[in-house]
Order: sequence, then structure tokens, then C-alpha cells
Amino acid sequence: MIKGAACKFLTSVMVVGSFIVALPSTATFADNVDDLAQVCAGCHGEKGVPIDKTTPVIWGQKRDYILNQLYNFKVGHRKNDLMSSVAEGLSKEDMEALATHFSKKQWPDLKQQAPSADDQKAAREILNTVNCRGCHQANYEGDTVRPRIAGQQDEYLLKTMTDFRTGERKTYIGMTALLKSVHEEALKPLAAYLASLQPGATR
Ligand code: HEC
Ligand code: HEC
Repeated sequence: MIKGAACKFLTSVMVVGSFIVALPSTATFADNVDDLAQVCAGCHGEKGVPIDKTTPVIWGQKRDYILNQLYNFKVGHRKNDLMSSVAEGLSKEDMEALATHFSKKQWPDLKQQAPSADDQKAAREILNTVNCRGCHQANYEGDTVRPRIAGQQDEYLLKTMTDFRTGERKTYIGMTALLKSVHEEALKPLAAYLASLQPGATR
């Protein structure tokens, strides 16, 4: 291994320290997690702020959730023209390293405006009736495979909840069933309310 590459290898190993035991003799994924993350930044943003309103925040998302979704895109359980082709080329080790990498970043504050008082009330009513906190945790900050939804992109939340509701997103039948019990028109205020929750705020 040439000197420059060895140096880069060591830096990468420090970033993904927990993977050191599994490292093959020639550095592969650990060597390129930063390079791979650069590819992700093209859409998910250099500083964690996605370039597009329908692209989700992944900085600070739960590690196991990220890992699950990358796997879902790779094997076709979840379909999206942009993400599916990205995930196709990732190995298991790449996905693990990327999930660790992004979960350790700080969730960006997108400063999304709260919806009208009526919409906030309608949203809270649904969140309490269905007990979304039961899984997404007290401040909707997520836990292991249950994603953080507080402060997520408004339009992405609306899109993905609609996808669950119509069955287009098939990754978890529980979410499809729950959102079928919610009126279609209620999804917009719900998305806007969740999007407006600031990181760390108690609700
Ligand atoms: C060409 C744009 C693009 C690139 C590059 C890209 N993504 Fe995505 N990603 C998206 C879009 C759009 C979605 C939302 C898909 C949907 O609506 O189902 C998404 C969804 C995701 C999700 C699911 C998040 C959630 O909340 O469910 C994860 C995790 C993810 N991307 C990780 C990555 C990683 C890691 C990389 C780099 C290896 C990457 N993405 C590269 C566009 C991109
Ligand atoms: C029984 C547990 C449970 C309950 C209750 C629940 N969720 Fe979920 N939710 C999940 C899990 C697990 C996922 C991840 C599914 C997957 O792997 O794709 C998820 C995913 C989501 C996502 C996708 C986030 C993203 O980044 O793509 C949204 C949005 C969401 N839930 C909103 C809600 C709302 C709103 C409620 C209440 C109406 C709710 N959930 C109730 C377990 C739950």
C-alpha cells in the first residue's frame, strides 16, 4: 500500500472504528466511506440540508433505520428511481459504514414554519389518537428502526406518508394500516406540523 493510501485508510478506520475487526486485508469500504458520503451529499446536502424538498434529511437519523432503508432500496422492497440506483452499488459493509457515518451527524434545523393554529390542532389530535409517540418516541425523535420524524422535510413527509397510505411504500405494513385510518386530507397538516418541530423541542 502506498503511503498516501495508508494514511487515508487509517483516517477512515478512525471514523468507522467499530468495523476494524471485520476489515479485509485490502481496504475497501472503510477506505471509501468519505468518498461514498460525498455521493450522498449530492442530494442529501453537504451540511445535511437536502437540495430538494422531497429528499429526506439523513444527518442524525437513527443508524438501524438508515441501514434498513438502504437494504430495502437495494433489494427492491422500497422503490425510488434516484435511491434505488444508488443503493444497488453498495455492499453490506458500505451500508453499515454509511449508516454509522450519517447517524453520528447532527440533525439540521430546517426552520420550517408551523402551520395555522387549526392545522396544528388537527395534527395533534391525530398524533395523540393514533399514539404515534408509542413508536416514534416522546419528541418524535425515533429509536433504532423507528425513524426520527420531528423536523423532517415537510414535502418528503407528505410524500412518504401518502406512499404508505396507498401501499406504494411497502416497507412496514403497520404504517400502511395506521395511515389508512387517517383521512387523506389530514396528511398535509400532519406533515407540516411534524416538519415544524425543532430538534430537541419537547411536545
Ligand atoms: C440522486 C439523489 C440521491 C442520492 C445521490 C442519494 N439519495 Fe438517498 N434519497 C434520495 C431521495 C429522493 C430519497 C427519498 C426516496 C423516497 O421518496 O422514497 C432518498 C432516501 C434515502 C433514505 C431513506 C430516508 C428515510 O427517511 O426514509 C436513506 C437512508 C438514504 N436516502 C441514504 C442515502 C445514502 C447513504 C446515499 C449515498 C450512498 C444516498 N442516499 C444518495 C435521493 C438521493
Ligand atoms: C407500531 C409502531 C408505529 C406507530 C404507532 C407509528 N409508526 Fe411511523 N413508523 C414505524 C416504523 C417501524 C417505521 C419505519 C418503517 C420502515 O422500515 O420503512 C415508521 C415510519 C414512519 C414514517 C417514515 C419516515 C421516513 O423517514 O421515511 C413516517 C413519516 C411515520 N412513520 C409517521 C408516523 C405517524 C404520523 C404516526 C401516527 C399516525 C406513526 N408513524 C405511528 C412505526 C410506527
